[in-house]
Amino acid sequence: MAKMETKTSLLDNMIGVGDMVLLEPLNEDTFINNLKKRFDHSEIYTYIGSVVISLNPYRSLPIYSPEKVEEYRNRNFYELSPHIFALSDEAYRSLRDQDKDQCILITGESGAGKTEASKLVMSYVAAVCGKGAEVNQVKEQLLQSNPVLEAFGNAKTVRNDNSSRFGKYMDIEFDFKGDPLGGVISNYLLEKSRVVKQPRGERNFHIFYQILSGGSEDLLCRLKLERDFSRYNYLGLDSARVNGVDDAANFRTVRNAMQIVGFMDHETQSVFEVVAAVLKLGNIEFKPESRVNGLDESKIKDKNELKEICELTGIDQSVLERAFSFRTVEAKQEKVSTTLNVAQAYYARDALAKNLYSRLFSWLVTRINESIKAQTKVRKKVMGVLDIYGFEIFEDGENSFEQFIINYCNEKLQQIFIELTLKEEQEEYIREGIEWTHIEYFNNAIICDLIENNQTGILAMLDEECLRPGTVTDDTFLEKLNQICATHQHFESRMSKCSRFLNDTSLPHCCFRIQHYAGKVMYQVEGFVDKNNDLLYRDLSQAMWKANHSLIKDLFPEGNPAKINLKRPPTAGSQFKASVATLMKNLQTKNPNYIRCIKPNDKKAAHIFNDALVCHQVRYLGLLENVRVRRAGYAFRQPYEPCLERYKMLCKQTWPHWRGPARDGVKVLFNDLEIPEEEYSFGRSKIFIRNPRTLFKLEDLRKQRLEDLATLIQKIYRGWKCRTHFLLMKKSQIVIASWYRRYAQQKKYQKIKSSAIVVQSYIRGWKARKLLRELKHQKRCNKAVTTIAAYWHGTQARRELKRLKEEARRKHAVAVIWAYWLGLKVRREYRKFFRANAGKKISEFILQKIIQKYFLEMKTKMPSLSPVDKNWPARPYLFLDSTHNELKRIFHLWRCKKYRDQFTDQQKLVYEEKLEASELFKDKKALYPASVGQPFQGAYLEISKNPKYKKLKDAVDEKIIIAEVVNKINRANGKATSRIFLLTNSNVLLADQKSGNIKSEVPLGDVTKVSMSSQNDGFFAVHLKEGSGAAGKGDFLFSSDHLIEMATKLYRTTLSQTKQKLNIEISDEFLVQFRQDKVCVKFIQGNQRNGNVPTCKRKNNRLLEVAVP
Ligand SMILES: Nc1ncnc2c1ncn2[C@@H]1O[C@H](COP(=O)(O)OP(=O)(O)O)[C@@H](O)[C@H]1O
Ligand SMILES: [Mg+2]
Repeated sequence: MAKMETKTSLLDNMIGVGDMVLLEPLNEDTFINNLKKRFDHSEIYTYIGSVVISLNPYRSLPIYSPEKVEEYRNRNFYELSPHIFALSDEAYRSLRDQDKDQCILITGESGAGKTEASKLVMSYVAAVCGKGAEVNQVKEQLLQSNPVLEAFGNAKTVRNDNSSRFGKYMDIEFDFKGDPLGGVISNYLLEKSRVVKQPRGERNFHIFYQILSGGSEDLLCRLKLERDFSRYNYLGLDSARVNGVDDAANFRTVRNAMQIVGFMDHETQSVFEVVAAVLKLGNIEFKPESRVNGLDESKIKDKNELKEICELTGIDQSVLERAFSFRTVEAKQEKVSTTLNVAQAYYARDALAKNLYSRLFSWLVTRINESIKAQTKVRKKVMGVLDIYGFEIFEDGENSFEQFIINYCNEKLQQIFIELTLKEEQEEYIREGIEWTHIEYFNNAIICDLIENNQTGILAMLDEECLRPGTVTDDTFLEKLNQICATHQHFESRMSKCSRFLNDTSLPHCCFRIQHYAGKVMYQVEGFVDKNNDLLYRDLSQAMWKANHSLIKDLFPEGNPAKINLKRPPTAGSQFKASVATLMKNLQTKNPNYIRCIKPNDKKAAHIFNDALVCHQVRYLGLLENVRVRRAGYAFRQPYEPCLERYKMLCKQTWPHWRGPARDGVKVLFNDLEIPEEEYSFGRSKIFIRNPRTLFKLEDLRKQRLEDLATLIQKIYRGWKCRTHFLLMKKSQIVIASWYRRYAQQKKYQKIKSSAIVVQSYIRGWKARKLLRELKHQKRCNKAVTTIAAYWHGTQARRELKRLKEEARRKHAVAVIWAYWLGLKVRREYRKFFRANAGKKISEFILQKIIQKYFLEMKTKMPSLSPVDKNWPARPYLFLDSTHNELKRIFHLWRCKKYRDQFTDQQKLVYEEKLEASELFKDKKALYPASVGQPFQGAYLEISKNPKYKKLKDAVDEKIIIAEVVNKINRANGKATSRIFLLTNSNVLLADQKSGNIKSEVPLGDVTKVSMSSQNDGFFAVHLKEGSGAAGKGDFLFSSDHLIEMATKLYRTTLSQTKQKLNIEISDEFLVQFRQDKVCVKFIQGNQRNGNVPTCKRKNNRLLEVAVP
């Protein structure tokens, strides 16, 4: 989406004033009220010139989204409402485009949102700077260093659940394109006293709780830890768990972050071992043991914990144990060992724990730096982010060495702020060519001097005290202060020589008070010397160095006896002073950007604005000072172009367009508005306005004018809108009218057209009918003429025909009459020459003559006398047809008679039998035709002549009609056996062929039926009467070569003897009675298997099958 070309300004829709410089009148009340008003409207950011004041909202606001990042990206600082992104963008762009190293200084008290602000700045820069895999990895490592440092360096305090207990300065390095290359982190003064003791309601560093809650069983076992917090003396019990903080989940985040940053597994493991060792150190307890010399010596109560620590860290147990009981002091090359009492032993233990932990922390920072440092040697641009503890004042006067140090640091920051701001202001005036006017402001250099002066400074004196031989206590230190600083304007104490404050009973004896730039702070002198000394007995550091644990060894290099150094290590105060000095030097080379964080309430609650608390912070942050410094010269400045753009509507010459340089335009404008000349100055590129009142006057005028202009624009727009609307309506009306007219005309035309068509059609109809009438009339006339003509011609023709017919009739009549006349004449003439009835006689004669001729011709044409001759001559005349056929029939009968007359009696008998056979079998049995030519012989066997059959012949006394050998079919299996078949006048006999013995004898009367097939076989069955003597074995089935003859003779004999006709059944399937069974004899045709001989087979007890070829 193209960025909208809208010129916006900080001044648009402003709640209160967005820039405190514009506050009028300027005092504490108006300042606080302005902050409050904006805070109530969720405007947590307010500017003082280019400084951003940030109020902690204690709730997430929707103002850090990627859309917001885009909104603030590449916009001018004053273009949009105040935001931390605007500052980040300004810093990043001047780093990238103008090659100026930047630092972002974030200050404010604990819980004011410094750390959050630093993260917001880093995330904004990460979002807008270059992209790409390599760049992203760098970004990721830079961002992930935060969780690691927070785990080890942050703790829950009463003010902040995630309070940073160390100061942090991070340099982010970029290449010429503005892509991040890497970074360097510096840490300042970890609050290490927290390791051994925490104030009420506060916790130790997060990491202890995180390991115990989130470490796996395996890890805890390796570290010899137990999950229960209450097991460890160093973990304050009353607030071990924090609402909304998931230690276990955070532990996972930390491990993950360590991995991303580049910690090796063994390094992580070593770090956790050291943390575990610190935790366990707290559990070592001591008891007094009396010695001979009457002094108490401390002894470890329970050595178990000590043993585990030594196992964990690889320290020789006896060495460590001894280090807790003895202290070796070296003086003049002489070693003196003194015993420690219980209190000293505890002091030694805690000192070891604090040192171990704080050195571990410094090691972590170094290790992270190793990972994130830029890999290239190219020139780098640097953006430093300083997140340092703000001014700290405990109202109950519990301010100690730490607060003193912290406040010193803030004092230094304030100084650099004043220096840089004023320097910048001055530089701008010079750049713009404006006369430099002296600016009145409070310079806190004097306070810095009070603290850091090398001879008379408080820190110097503290060091001096610490190094001084003899008894040194906090009180002697205070005494010294009282001597040296008594006259200092910003130092107060009860005991000061000049007893100015002796009456001030609010100041206890053991305290001193410094009037910092941000307010008075009372410090308790107790512990100053100890904390500054930061003493760790040499025996302990040597014991540590001897550890078989590379990390712990590295942490205590001074324990190496080879490098033994009798010089005392630098004190905490001087160390800090040195590092602050380096930091200041570093910052001075950079362009500063300030974020001043303010905490609106003590309850960590949203929507609560505690006026007193804010007022306090405003005071010690020196914000009013800040505004005053900023306003010392000119309150407001703006380049000419945007200024002219914003106010050009206030003057006729510049509105709507000014042609010419913007500077002249502004001049004309300001003259026209009659703004007093002392109120503004013209720089080279900017207009400087001395008093905010002038700006607000301009703004008011602009607002008024904008309203007028809006009315004007509205008026013109409304006029334009109405006009265009009217024109549009007019145009539309014309279009509608034209369309309507067209439509009306079309309709009218259609109506006229249809009427014309109606009239036309009527006329045409009338015309057509008239024409039709005429045509019809004409046609009728024509038809009438034709009809008349036809009738006329018809009449004519009929008349002619009649005439012709008359004439023909007349002619015919003439001819008939003539013929009759002639006939009559001839008959009259010839009657005398003819006899009567001669015609009949002549015809009879002719007929007789024809018949005579026919018979005579027949005589010569007669056929032979053979009865089988079929010849007969053809008939000569049709009328003789019946005669001719009759003659043929008579002739045939006659010649048959002639043929029969030649037969003997014997022959006659044979023919009778043949005739009988013909009647019985002709056209019924296929075997018959073959039998016609065979003569019936009857006795084929000469019984009387064969002596073999003498007995048979003797048994039969009657005449033998048939003697023949037949095949008797076995009833059971269909096999054939030869038998002699004899037929006499009264019996049928069956005899054995060889012996001639009679097998069966059946009287003819018992034979009821003979059955045979219609086919060409010789099988036949002889059915016997049921119950007769012969029928015991059932019916006979025979086969014979002379079946026709035998059946005929059986029939004839039966008829002549019993006067009954023997039943002959011809069928291809008949039943026979075999003993009790009725068996079906079935003839099947077409079986060629046994050649031409029919075969007989008993299939089952119901069927006997005869296969006929
Ligand atoms: N801009 C912010 N928006 C929302 N919450 C914030 C913001 N700044 C701070 N906080 C809240 O205040 C708490 C304290 O902030 P922190 O930055 O840790 O304070 P400091 O570092 O100044 O001690 C944070 O944990 C967070 O809950
Ligand atoms: Mg913090």
